Amino acid sequence: MTGNNTTRRDFLALMSALGLTGADLAESFAQEQMPSREIPGTNEWLPIIGLGSSKPVSQIADRGTEPIAAVLRALVASGGSVVDTWPRNPANDEAFGRIINEPDLRESLFVASKIDKVGKDAGLRQFRQTQRLYQRETLDLVQIFSLTDLDTQWRNLKDWKASGKTRYIGATVANASLYEQLESFLRRERPDFVQINYSITERGAEERMLPLCQDLGVAVIINRPFMNGDYFQRLGQRRVPGWAADFDCESWAQFSLKYILPQPAITCVLTETSNPAHMVENSRAAFGRMPDDSERNRMKAVIDQA
Ligand SMILES: NC(=O)c1ccc[n+]([C@@H]2O[C@H](COP(=O)([O-])OP(=O)(O)OC[C@H]3O[C@@H](n4cnc5c(N)ncnc54)[C@H](OP(=O)(O)O)[C@@H]3O)[C@@H](O)[C@H]2O)c1
Repeated sequence: MTGNNTTRRDFLALMSALGLTGADLAESFAQEQMPSREIPGTNEWLPIIGLGSSKPVSQIADRGTEPIAAVLRALVASGGSVVDTWPRNPANDEAFGRIINEPDLRESLFVASKIDKVGKDAGLRQFRQTQRLYQRETLDLVQIFSLTDLDTQWRNLKDWKASGKTRYIGATVANASLYEQLESFLRRERPDFVQINYSITERGAEERMLPLCQDLGVAVIINRPFMNGDYFQRLGQRRVPGWAADFDCESWAQFSLKYILPQPAITCVLTETSNPAHMVENSRAAFGRMPDDSERNRMKAVIDQA
């Protein structure tokens, strides 16, 4: 048996231990492909649910690579491909690099990374290290983390894109305090991608930022769909309203995701998890009917009263 078969078998064993069999997955996802949306101005489409990998990658030192490998396989088995990373610890990043290059994953992932350094040379060193640890000459997407050293790093990113070291470039924010700076950057530079926080509990981006991205033709990746977990704390033991089943919503996680996804500006929503069953549950939000405007207003009212 090859290593690849072993990892697949381990993955299925893990899903089974979680109460999800390969047959369940096949039944859940065989009916249709995960819906995807076009990167504006290209012929490339991305599945609408992705993985934010910070938590399972940062846990590699304590928990090994099994959780991140299982979550990535759950993402791919669900029809997803986008994995967002933030290089920080060379040992963990090297292990992550090994996993994303497993034969069954290598061609299935759209890998987005970040630069969070100050200074041209520091940014370049970080990018080269990411190329080496991820074993990729070409990244799919490189983003400037939280607009850090924006002007300098943007020149770096444009050079890397021009020389074929990354296919797309962009910038991230996760806090409304950066929206003004982001807006002038978007108007000035029209990046390929922007990553921004948006959810049923953090709705600020829907006023100006999402319509602006749509007007400018910038692809949008969403972060913090669950406020890094605070959303679930806020809901406590409350039950999902019965009427959410009308738009195929089975859980509070899907409730937030199905609020986010109808926004036409959005290309992909990242959900961070180290639990493969949560990855499957989150991916299922991409399927079935989405709520209409009046249902989304009703959803907001539920969350605002929680
Ligand atoms: N400035 C930036 O560039 C920036 C900032 C923040 C985030 N991000 C990106 O966005 C990604 C996601 O945002 P976030 O980090 O704020 O995380 P998030 O997706 O809003 O929340 C993650 C938390 O929700 C839990 N969770 C996930 N699915 C669940 C489910 N179905 N049921 C119950 N709990 C669930 C996870 O715990 P379990 O592990 O137990 O599932 C985790 O604790 C990050 O990984 C990163 O890639 C970027």
